[in-house]
This record gives sequence, C-alpha cells and structure tokens, in this order.
Amino acid sequence: MTDLRHPIFARLYPRLDAASAKAGGDAYRAELLDGTSGRVLEVGAGYGANFPHYPATVTEVVALEPEPRLRAMATHAAGRVSVPVSVRPGLAESLDLDDASFDVAVASLVLCSVSDPVRALSEMRRVLRPGGELRYYEHVRGRTARKIRFQRCADLAWPLIAGGCHVSRRTDEWIAGSGFTVRAERRFEFPPGRLPNPASPHVIGVAVRD
Ligand SMILES: C[S@@+](CC[C@H](N)C(=O)[O-])C[C@H]1O[C@@H](n2cnc3c(N)ncnc32)[C@H](O)[C@@H]1O
Repeated sequence: MTDLRHPIFARLYPRLDAASAKAGGDAYRAELLDGTSGRVLEVGAGYGANFPHYPATVTEVVALEPEPRLRAMATHAAGRVSVPVSVRPGLAESLDLDDASFDVAVASLVLCSVSDPVRALSEMRRVLRPGGELRYYEHVRGRTARKIRFQRCADLAWPLIAGGCHVSRRTDEWIAGSGFTVRAERRFEFPPGRLPNPASPHVIGVAVRD
C-alpha cells in the first residue's frame, strides 16, 4: 500500500504554496527544472506545482505522489501541461522502477517529508542512469547554533501540522554523501521576511549520479 493520508495538510498545502509561489517560489521551481531533458522522475510531486515548469526538452515525467487528495490534484494538473506527465502512487523509499531508467530525478520540498531521506536518495540514484541528474530544491538545517536550536524545537510539533515535514534535516549533506557529485548548489533564505521561520534555509542544486 503506497497511500499516505494527510487530509488536512493536503487541503492547506496548495493554498499556502500558491502564496509562496507569488513570493518567489515559482521562480525557484523554474530554476530547478531549467535545462532538464529526457525521461524525468519526480518523487512526492504534491499537487503538481512543478509541472508547468518542465521544458519541452523533457519527453516524459513519471510523477509519484502517495497522498490521494494531492495525487488527484496532480493528475488534474498533468492534463493541463504539454509535456507528458503520468501521475502514480508511490513512495520515494521503494521505487517500483527499473535501474538506470531515468535521465533526471527531481526532489522538490520533499526530502523534508519522507520517512527515510537517505534511502529515498539511494533509490533515486538507483533509477538514474550514470551521469543522470538529481535536481533538488529543499529546505534544510540552518548554519548557526541558534537557528538549529530553533529548528530542533520546531521539529517537536512541525511534522504533525505539516504532513510529516521536518525542518532540521541535513538534506544537502545527505545528497553529497549518497553517490552524487554536486555540480552546482546555491543556499538562500526563503521566504523573505523578518519573522523567524524555522523552514527558511533552502538549497537549490544539481547533483550528478556518480
Ligand atoms: C511539502 S510537499 C511538496 C510537494 C511538491 N514536491 C512540491 O514541490 O510542491 C511534500 C510532499 O511529499 C510527499 N511525501 C511524503 N512522504 C513521502 C514519501 N515517503 N515518498 C514520496 N512522497 C512523499 C507528500 O505527500 C507531499 O506531497
């Protein structure tokens, strides 16, 4: 069974993300997918916010989403873009997909939420062809002791209200240690604003399967 039910989060996330899109999130999604081509796997695709950003050089997107309500929205979104996107249930940690069968794997705001991010990275590596790209856009652990303390406190409750999302994960370090060579990576704070936000440190990058 690959369904993960987060009914309240599934209702709230598309609305929250629409606000984030206007604040700059859409531009990050475009940057994430710029220059991608060939066969693409997207894990935890949510409601399909990335779909409009796939360039015409992408021949097929296989989009996995385990939450049924979000999956239904993603299926609807897939019908509104010109790149062929098939939406299926599936967990990032156990991909029912052939070895070396994708040119690109996409992880966008998802490694914070999967139960085992290192295993998910190992699975994405397995299905990528040698030289294939992992494109990632994730929020990650902060760099100061104060921020990390704040994130650890937030993580006591955050996963319960945010569909299993954790804010203190060292996702960038795990990517670099999972059989990928990081070709480009940029850190930034998002969204902009003065209020303390435990999910503000982000990375966007491209890592190549060794
Ligand atoms: C914050 S949302 C991000 C959705 C989308 N990637 C985006 O960029 O908008 C996190 C997503 O991860 C999905 N998810 C949670 N656990 C997962 C797992 N083990 N495997 C795959 N996706 C998972 C959730 O259902 C949700 O759609």
